Amino acid sequence: MRHILRADQFDHDELARLFGRAIFFMEQDQHIKTRRNTLKLHQGRIMVSMFYEPSTRTRFSFEIAAAKLGMAVIGTENAAEFSSAAKGETIEDTVRVLNEYGVDAICMRTKEDGHAARAAAVSNVAIINGGDGKAEHPTQAVLDAYTIYQKFGRLDTLQVVMGGDLAHGRTVRSLAKLLSTYKNNHIIFISTPELQMSADVLKYLDKNGTTYEQTDDIEKAFTGADVVYWTRLQLERHSDAKLAHGTQAFTIDKSTLRYLPKKAIIMHPLPRVNEIAAEVDKDPRAVYFKQAGNGLYVRMAMLDAILKELP
Ligand code: NCD
Repeated sequence: MRHILRADQFDHDELARLFGRAIFFMEQDQHIKTRRNTLKLHQGRIMVSMFYEPSTRTRFSFEIAAAKLGMAVIGTENAAEFSSAAKGETIEDTVRVLNEYGVDAICMRTKEDGHAARAAAVSNVAIINGGDGKAEHPTQAVLDAYTIYQKFGRLDTLQVVMGGDLAHGRTVRSLAKLLSTYKNNHIIFISTPELQMSADVLKYLDKNGTTYEQTDDIEKAFTGADVVYWTRLQLERHSDAKLAHGTQAFTIDKSTLRYLPKKAIIMHPLPRVNEIAAEVDKDPRAVYFKQAGNGLYVRMAMLDAILKELP
C-alpha cells in the first residue's frame, strides 16, 4: 500500500507523471461533460477526511478532488473535538477501526509531528499526510513543485528564497527537501535568528549537495531569485515571547518587490496574514492564488495514483 507521508518519497519520474495527470484533470474540469468522465473513475471508493487542525485549502481541495473523482467523502471538520481523540484514543486505534470499515484512503492533518507515519504503521488503507505538526506537508510540496514547474519548465538550477517562520512551518521543510533531490538548486533562507530553518533540514540539504545561505538581507536575496516562497508566523506553534523582532519583520510590499527580477514568482502556501501586503496581489509575479488552485488538480492526480494501485 502506498501512503503519502514525506515529500522526498516521490521520485522524479513519478512527479512528472503526477504533473501530467494534474494537467489532464485540469482540462477535464473545464466542462461539465468531461467532468462527468472523471466522476466515473473512482466511483465506489471512499475517502475519510480527519483534520485535527484547522485547514481551508488542504481539506477542501482533497474533499473536492475526491468528489470530482466520484468518491464518497466521510469526515469531520474537527477531529480533535468530534472524534474519540477528545476522549484520549490514540491515532493508531482510530486508524485501526477505520481499517475495519472498508475505506480506500484516509487523509489526515495532525497537531503532532510523526502522527501520519504512526497511522501508516498500523494501516492497510492509504494514509495521506495533510500536514503533521511542524514536520512535513508532502502534498503541499508536490503542488508547490508543480507551480514552479509550470513557470520554469524545470525543478533544477533554481534560486529559491524561502522566508518567514522557517522554524515552525512544515511547508518550507517539505519543499526544501523535495527541491534538494534536484541538481543545482540554491536556497536562501530569510528569517530572524530565532525562526531559522531547523538543523535537520540543513543537514539533509548538505547530504544532497544543495547549497544554501541564511540571511536577513531581503534586498540581496531577492536580486537574482527565481522563486520567492513566503510564509506566515506559525503563532499556534510558539509563543509571542520568542518574537524579539516583532511580527512585521518579514513583510513583502511593493517597495520590497523592486529588487525581484521580472521572471520571478512569488509563492505562499496560504493563509497569508500580514506578511504579504494586499497590494502585491496585483503584481504579475504573485502566483499564490493560482498555486492554491493547482492544489486541487495535483491532489486529484495523487488520489488517482493511489487508487489505481488498489485491487
Ligand atoms: C499551510 C499548513 O497548514 O501548513 N497551509 C496549507 O496547507 N496551505 C501553511 C500554514 O498554515 O501556514
